[in-house]
Amino acid sequence: MTTEYVDYGGSFEAALAKSRLLEQDLQKNPQNYKILTGDRPTGRLHIGHFFGSLQNRVRLHKLGVPTYIVIADYQVLTDRDTFDAIAENVHQLAIDYLAAGIDPTDGKTIIFPHSHVPELNQLLLPFLTLVTNAELDRNPTVKEEIIASGQKNINAGMYTYPVHQAADILFCKGNVVPVGKDQLPHLELTRTIARRFNSRFANDKPVFPEPQPLLSEAPIVLGLDGGQKMSKSRNNTIMLSADEDETARLIKRAKTDSERLITYDPENRPEVANLLMLISLSTGRKPEDIAAEIGDGGGGQLKKMLTESLNEYLRPHRAKRKELEKDPGYIRQVLKDGVAQARAEAEQTLNEVREVMNMML
Ligand code: TRP
Repeated sequence: MTTEYVDYGGSFEAALAKSRLLEQDLQKNPQNYKILTGDRPTGRLHIGHFFGSLQNRVRLHKLGVPTYIVIADYQVLTDRDTFDAIAENVHQLAIDYLAAGIDPTDGKTIIFPHSHVPELNQLLLPFLTLVTNAELDRNPTVKEEIIASGQKNINAGMYTYPVHQAADILFCKGNVVPVGKDQLPHLELTRTIARRFNSRFANDKPVFPEPQPLLSEAPIVLGLDGGQKMSKSRNNTIMLSADEDETARLIKRAKTDSERLITYDPENRPEVANLLMLISLSTGRKPEDIAAEIGDGGGGQLKKMLTESLNEYLRPHRAKRKELEKDPGYIRQVLKDGVAQARAEAEQTLNEVREVMNMML
């Protein structure tokens, strides 16, 4: 399903153009920005996350931009009713961030679970008064999520999703949010909420920034079944935590086509093109060149090459995550430190909010 979203500065192209300018300025003036980003802890990360968003976050983080990562545990409740594995999922997610190179010891980076920061959630009530039901009704990403989750009765947590996401972003005055296209409507509502809050309550000195989306230009990694996005619920992934043999087994089962000559043709041969793209992402080589090298070696040769290059590329990440898995106390400490800093900042923001709203005692 695609999102028909043409409402950010006029068009998706406009959003992309703005995003490119923002990217340039981030490189020049990293100190002017604070990145806020997050994931729902629905399981371990797979290579689609790795190439699609995680690597980009690490790159931005290494430019020296403060990076705040919210593990959106409460938000898992919006479309899933099982909570058995939540603690383990939070833990595993943190391991993948750290293994990929997010470094909370740099003094400006935190990782924290949403449910431990009550001050953040307090922003939800005033924010809810700044949006209309009609605006929530219109949000195309929420509509898609509802369809994808198969819910017949929509819970209000799902319905208000973009409002709590606004609280996640604004509590620490995050002003850059790296997102995929599907998250643009949420971000637009965050900007609206910030603007309305400022003009209603804080005319002379704005409390909240209007955060800008930073669109990732990383390619969307398709699942091993070819036609659709890689996603755990579609059972077509390679997890970052998979070992080398398992990776080889999964790739062996990947869908290709009956044409022996390997060519890079995303339009007509999406399955083969996706495997070539994964080799390209793992080696830095052009997919066309890789295809030419394999020539009439067929699907077998293609898969062999992918197995080798992907396993080699992921080896450092996998080694690091193994090491981290042996030290749960450290992971817990990283999360606790993240919570402490997030709470301190959220409290400060909440005080400013109370002040401009005339709610001080
Ligand atoms: N909605 C995001 C997702 O499902 C996760 C998320 C929660 C998030 N809060 C956020 C992303 C704040 C960016 C900023 O992927």
